[in-house]
Amino acid sequence: MAQTGTGMGFLASEIDQLKAHGLHRSLRVIGSANKPVFTVDGKEVINLSSNNYLGLTTHPKLIEASVKATQWYGVGSGAVRTIAGTMTVHEELERRLATFKHTEASLTFQSGFTANVGVLQSILKEEDVIISDQLNHASIIDGIRLSRAPRKIFPHKDMDGLEKVLKESQDARVRLVVTDGVFSMDGDIAPMPDIVNLAERYGAIVMIDDAHASGVLGKNGRGTVNHYGLDGRVQIQIGTLSKAIGAVGGYVAGDEVLRDFLIHMARPFLFSTSQPPGVVASCIAALDVLEQEPEIIDKLWDNTRFFKQKLTDLGFNTGHSETPITPVIVGEAHKAMELSDKLFERGVFAQGIGYPTVAQGQARLRTMISAAHTQEQLQTALDAIAESGRELGII
Ligand SMILES: Cc1ncc(COP(=O)(O)O)c(C=O)c1O
Repeated sequence: MAQTGTGMGFLASEIDQLKAHGLHRSLRVIGSANKPVFTVDGKEVINLSSNNYLGLTTHPKLIEASVKATQWYGVGSGAVRTIAGTMTVHEELERRLATFKHTEASLTFQSGFTANVGVLQSILKEEDVIISDQLNHASIIDGIRLSRAPRKIFPHKDMDGLEKVLKESQDARVRLVVTDGVFSMDGDIAPMPDIVNLAERYGAIVMIDDAHASGVLGKNGRGTVNHYGLDGRVQIQIGTLSKAIGAVGGYVAGDEVLRDFLIHMARPFLFSTSQPPGVVASCIAALDVLEQEPEIIDKLWDNTRFFKQKLTDLGFNTGHSETPITPVIVGEAHKAMELSDKLFERGVFAQGIGYPTVAQGQARLRTMISAAHTQEQLQTALDAIAESGRELGII
């Protein structure tokens, strides 16, 4: 039994529940840079758990840009954007992102999470409706909770379900359909052409959270909208600077009027200090890399195909993944955690994920492949996964 004598005992029984269900984890501590091989809790392991798709966290151009900007501007911006926290680098990054995403404008936030919350919380009113895919990311769910607009959920990627909700909500002033571009736990892609066609037919607008597609899908990593040739037909595109871009931050790309509105109304923008200048400069350098070295995106996809095919050949269930996010679905949470532990003993770091992050009975390892892995490293990891999977009777 967890014990506490500080008046916080009401949390102890909840912790006991997590332990009983095999869901209690301690934080793993990384002692080196985020690379394909790194140090976790003092042990050198192959990294299959990061969102550093292109290996940009340690790219020399990003590091150099970050150091130079830090030397010029200092380590922090010192204020929220609307007071004294907008530096020339913030505006330069926003111009670059708008050009990159083929939109009129963009606005950066401190994270992808705050970008989703800031938009969803602010733009709609009681007379509107938000229509959301059942498996959307937690930051979309929280943004919807903070909005005054009523919400309707459609089953995951179910276009009949979406059409039904669009028909039911014809009287609303504005209908906003919101979806992840790439779903973060399964790696499947939203059916954007169908979503956009339905939205246009019923006069709705569309918002996409492209956290896992920026730098991964589309020309030079422009994202899901560009991947499907839908530039100009999706009104709100959210991106993160924390995954393939390698640093931290989020952004909204869309019309100038959207940017202007968010500057006045998005609460994380108004009430939380802006991104540090060194971070912003490294994001600008990341866009240079995407434009000048697109071959790293090809390498990411080569590695992804190699790894996925081998896992499938071994008999693992990788679900419906279409992207580098590759789940190894094992069922019960304790089994996923045991598999993760066995892999760690064998020098491979792949975190187990269970309920409530994924549905009950769908616990998994969430493996992530990057452009920086060598095929030898991936093969070593595959051998360890196969051996551990056999020991646990998964394959
Ligand atoms: C689909 C999705 N949206 C948004 C986010 C939040 O992005 P960030 O880590 O930049 O806050 C994540 C990251 O976990 C994500 O997977």
